[in-house]
Amino acid sequence: MRKIVIAGNWKMFKTQAETAEFLQGFLPQLEDTPEGREIILCVPFTDLAVLGQNLHGSRVRVGAQNVHWAESGAYTGEISAAMLTEINVRYVIIGHSERREYFGETNETVNQRLRAAQAAGLTPILCVGESKQQRDAGDTEQVIFAQLKQGLAGVDQNNLIIAYEPIWAIGTGETCACEEANRVIGLIRGKLHNADVPIQYGGSVKPENVDEIMAQPEIDGALVGGASLEPESFARLVNFK
Ligand code: 13P
Repeated sequence: MRKIVIAGNWKMFKTQAETAEFLQGFLPQLEDTPEGREIILCVPFTDLAVLGQNLHGSRVRVGAQNVHWAESGAYTGEISAAMLTEINVRYVIIGHSERREYFGETNETVNQRLRAAQAAGLTPILCVGESKQQRDAGDTEQVIFAQLKQGLAGVDQNNLIIAYEPIWAIGTGETCACEEANRVIGLIRGKLHNADVPIQYGGSVKPENVDEIMAQPEIDGALVGGASLEPESFARLVNFK
């Protein structure tokens, strides 16, 4: 059985005070959320502790947005897996397209981070996806297969989530057509040893389109940016019909 996983990626948004305010509005809206849906908030490092303090007894899980591969060392600006697990972080986004584009992340560093995260007991959310240019050139499959092949070398597929995020659909309001997202996710599944790995769709998921997206047979969840920042909209996503 594949799990349903709805995750918010807050990117570089929200102070600690804003995080506490979000939780006050969000948590009461989970009372009727169907069993078996995993809910994750992947937040900036300073907000992780606020989640840790306020989520006792709640079903919301805590995720970070990056982790380094070394146990410790001279890596200014990075964070280790042990620093995350110490404060009850269970998940971590790895290889988001914004990290690949602005911070020089490659399939190789993504692979190193994935393996280190798993070794420390974290569940990674590996992001893959093509740019507009790659899609227009007919390279979508080739790009994604390379991201999977190199990214997943030596990675345990029993402790993994994948997010298919076409870059041209991120933050643009332009959602990938549901059938197309479903098709690509089916292709991704075909490349895995473990067909039960949850595979999410990400890119302009919002209250207006979540039900249609989640009705697709291959799509196991969503990785949500903008629409995860407001309690009402993220609650609507988590409570999709
Ligand atoms: P948006 O939902 O804002 O398009 O962002 C998607 C994303 O990048 C999630 O990781």
